[in-house]
Amino acid sequence: MADHAILAGKRVLLVIAGGIAAYKSLELIRRLRERGVTVRAVLTEAGARFVTPLSVQALTEDTVYRDLWSLTDESEMGHIRLSREADLLVVAPATANLLARMAAGMADDLAATVLLATDKPVMVAPAMNVRMWQHAATQANMALLESRGVLRVGPNDGVMACNEYGPGRMAEPMEIVDAIAGFFAAEANRLQGPLAGRRAIVTSGPTHEPIDPVRYIANRSSGKQGHAIAAALAALGAEVTLVSGPTRLPDPAGCRVTHIETAREMLAACEAALPADIAVCAAAVADWRVDGASDRKLKKDGGGPPALALTENPDILATLSQPGERRPALVVGFAAETGDVLAYATAKRARKGCDWIVANDVSPGTGTFGGSDNTVHLIRADGVESWPTMPKDAVATRLAEAVAAFFAGK
Ligand code: C5P
Repeated sequence: MADHAILAGKRVLLVIAGGIAAYKSLELIRRLRERGVTVRAVLTEAGARFVTPLSVQALTEDTVYRDLWSLTDESEMGHIRLSREADLLVVAPATANLLARMAAGMADDLAATVLLATDKPVMVAPAMNVRMWQHAATQANMALLESRGVLRVGPNDGVMACNEYGPGRMAEPMEIVDAIAGFFAAEANRLQGPLAGRRAIVTSGPTHEPIDPVRYIANRSSGKQGHAIAAALAALGAEVTLVSGPTRLPDPAGCRVTHIETAREMLAACEAALPADIAVCAAAVADWRVDGASDRKLKKDGGGPPALALTENPDILATLSQPGERRPALVVGFAAETGDVLAYATAKRARKGCDWIVANDVSPGTGTFGGSDNTVHLIRADGVESWPTMPKDAVATRLAEAVAAFFAGK
């Protein structure tokens, strides 16, 4: 959890759009104000159907900004000023409609105009029905916004007001407070930390390789170690792009996160994030994918089991390690082995062409896969360092410190 002390004195412009989750935004205002944040609020017309302007006004102790055309609002505070006199814009709840308008660059009400006119970072907390969230249009809008640097917190899985189940619930107010604190902490570090000004790419989690629209090949990677490394590098000031396969983990604070499913998507996302100074490939990438995955569900039609032809996936670590102008100065791979860990991992370092390998024993019983602890060896050109068993967060911090020391010595 991020340290909330950093929130004191910060200014947040909160945009409340029209969703049932808007009631949680009232709580969000309270939690932010308790921590010394000045909150100004923009309420959309639909938002005002879910929470009253009076409640928002009472909690922010400020005018509620609602109307692009209101002479009072404009004379007191033009929309340009409103959008710039904040350290961060937070949209909570961010409805499918507002995300679409943001993605399209529309300026058809005060909320959209402020979001278009701002030169400040924007964080969104999506909240909508699960199908609306999963709709290709919303997913494409969200991906576009994230590619432009918009930060996201949630949505969470759960039962929705409409009684459906799945992702779409707005993050809880304290999760949003944490994400905001994480953003400010990362921003402060970006300016001061030892990795300030360095760009990092981290891969994490498993990949899902489709067999047909409903089945896929996957593995047991939880993403815990990779996500922790992304957070640890960001905490030291690096500008981190985390390329994550499907996991149950929340996006780490202060990182840009690209969500992918397949190895090929992971490679494309990594290449899109270049140039970078650091690449850490902690993902458990599927070595194989189904050649010619079916676009229809395979049927049990009496003809026996289907023969699945496999084909090799690209090796992301080896690709990023290839010599060339775009090669990150430091490329780190992982080697999960079940015996002869050091010998295999040393050979892997040479084969992949990376600089360092973090090797660990994932034999059954070690609890590494999915567990919280890890016992690793850091293999570099000049030798091996064996670290004691420690929580994955601590492994991440130590690795990030080693990365910082590497750049300090350059
Ligand atoms: O070859 P192996 O899977 O054991 O190598 C593990 C390392 O290579 C990890 O760092 C993993 O993230 C990376 N890798 C990759 N792309 C693949 C396979 C592995 O980046 N297709």
